[in-house]
Amino acid sequence: MASEKLYRVYHGLPVPKIAHTEESLSYLEAFEVTDDDIFAVTYPKSGTTWMQEILPLLLNGGDLQPVEKIPNWDRVPWLEETRLALVVDKLTPPRAMVSHMHYHLMPPSFHSSKAKVIYIARNPKDILVSSFYFHQMASFLDDPGTFEEFTEKFLAGQVLFGKWTDHVKSWRNTDLGDRILYITYEELIQDLREVLKRILHFLGREMSEDALDRVTDHCLFENMKKNQMSNYSLVPKDIMDSNKSPFLRKGISGDWKNHFSPELEAKFNTVIRKEMEGSGVEFPWDKE
Ligand code: A3P
Repeated sequence: MASEKLYRVYHGLPVPKIAHTEESLSYLEAFEVTDDDIFAVTYPKSGTTWMQEILPLLLNGGDLQPVEKIPNWDRVPWLEETRLALVVDKLTPPRAMVSHMHYHLMPPSFHSSKAKVIYIARNPKDILVSSFYFHQMASFLDDPGTFEEFTEKFLAGQVLFGKWTDHVKSWRNTDLGDRILYITYEELIQDLREVLKRILHFLGREMSEDALDRVTDHCLFENMKKNQMSNYSLVPKDIMDSNKSPFLRKGISGDWKNHFSPELEAKFNTVIRKEMEGSGVEFPWDKE
């Protein structure tokens, strides 16, 4: 089980106590979503921080100032975390926020609004690897143990925000219609500029080719890694220790191949396939 010292359980989901308090979760439930709000929704380690960089730039015409001056957790805050109540008045419409919440746990005002959602999915094997290193560097998360032990926990949903399969299924079978855009981390890796164009179109925004080039360049892993407002270097070492593993770690797809034994991969595939069976949800990595 996820440790009681570090996590509280919210509707069955372990959430880290450091940023999720009873107040922040009540605030989430009562939050007044407006029609022009934009949410980037992810299962943890799927590209949340990346979207906190991308969204402000696409919404402001490519002005780099805010992303170089304001930490990511304040410029695009988490809907469920403590910072939101503190910074909400400083957000200028359209407000961009991120969330790890499952669909049915979004606030009632979200469901009755016209707010838009960009859902970013990532190969769960790469999520597992990314999360394993994140658990090593973050003192507010359980010690992951060995990679095999952590895989067991991940598959059992004894990790932050529960099972990956439940998360992706909840956001695929919605009645959001054209209010939701699905992208993958792998598409962002493969052709960032093209996906940024797709997001612009979805948000009904335009941007000059020059500005789009600038934003694309700024959001490349090597450049974003240097941005102190985005690489978590502002967080004290006793909370996040980048000497153990940097938050912006490798920024690639397919690192799982360096971590899974054939036996572990077979086990992982069996569990995930069984849970996705009948959901009608398919991903490009299913065929790998
Ligand atoms: P890795 O640990 O595989 O490197 P989240 O923000 O949801 O916690 O996800 C973190 C993951 O996204 C990390 O993956 C991190 O390196 C990756 N990431 C963040 N910004 C990125 C970028 N600009 N390009 C590629 N990957 C990025």
